[in-house]
Amino acid sequence: MTSQSHNSKLPAGRPRQKTSNLLVVASGKGGVGKTFVSITLAHSLAASGKRVLLFDGDLGLANVDVQLGIMPPFDLGDVIAGQVTLEDAICSYQGADAAQSKPGADFHILAGKSGSGSLGSLSGAELNGLIQGLISLSGHYDYLIIDLPAGIDTAVTKLTLEGENVFVVLTDEPTSLTDAYAYIKVIARYDPKTRFHIIVNQAPSKMQGQRTFASLANACRNFLSIELKLAGLVHRDPKVKEAIRHQTPILHRSPDSSAVADIAKISRMITLEI
Ligand SMILES: Nc1ncnc2c1ncn2[C@@H]1O[C@H](COP(=O)(O)OP(=O)(O)OP(=O)(O)O)[C@@H](O)[C@H]1O
Ligand SMILES: [Mg+2]
Repeated sequence: MTSQSHNSKLPAGRPRQKTSNLLVVASGKGGVGKTFVSITLAHSLAASGKRVLLFDGDLGLANVDVQLGIMPPFDLGDVIAGQVTLEDAICSYQGADAAQSKPGADFHILAGKSGSGSLGSLSGAELNGLIQGLISLSGHYDYLIIDLPAGIDTAVTKLTLEGENVFVVLTDEPTSLTDAYAYIKVIARYDPKTRFHIIVNQAPSKMQGQRTFASLANACRNFLSIELKLAGLVHRDPKVKEAIRHQTPILHRSPDSSAVADIAKISRMITLEI
């Protein structure tokens, strides 16, 4: 991995030019559905013909590969150990359902590595090298999706600040709301122009989902002077748990589920607006 001469401290002023096709998926709080949303968005965008790279940024508890039931030959741990390049660590996920033989649904994955520490434990040079590598890879794709780990450490903040569009996933739990708010506050302090797209996941109903969005949007408007955009609601759907339990993407296992329809809507918005 290439090392960078500058240190890993956050930029004091304006961040440098952003990567427009980078979609960061974050939440602050863990367990709200970032990985499920990231995978299903990647799959859905790929199914609409887009070239997508999904990066599992959760090095400590990598689970993109677990949710998809795959064993990538290489992961970020191998890249950081200098055994393979970032490009060589990319594996292809056969997103086309054999039954439907839909072309163009494959997407690429850069796997994390469970138990190999966390992004936060990378040295400044390693983190900067990783970011540079990701940015140059993004040029080969329509979208680079980063499934970020929970929390708001330096690595999460730096990766977030690389993209123009940040997708914040939250649920109606009060702790999810406060953590999403805290994450937005930290990011906006570095770059108030960041575009925050909110995904309310596990919404029990449309009304409750909209209420959750309104609570966060009002807090951000009143205390941070930030306008949030609702990317969409994803309903609480038992098919999600079922698909994850079977380590099969929901687009294959339950293509007619409400969660798939909800994420397909978000994916359409992305292709139109980003
Ligand atoms: N729309 C949904 N409907 C029902 N259950 C859901 C939905 N989205 C996520 N879940 C449940 O939430 C669990 C956590 O999802 P996921 O692993 O994607 O969260 P995460 O935010 O990536 O967690 P972590 O912070 O640990 O990485 C899933 O295993 C699933 O059971
Ligand atoms: Mg996750």
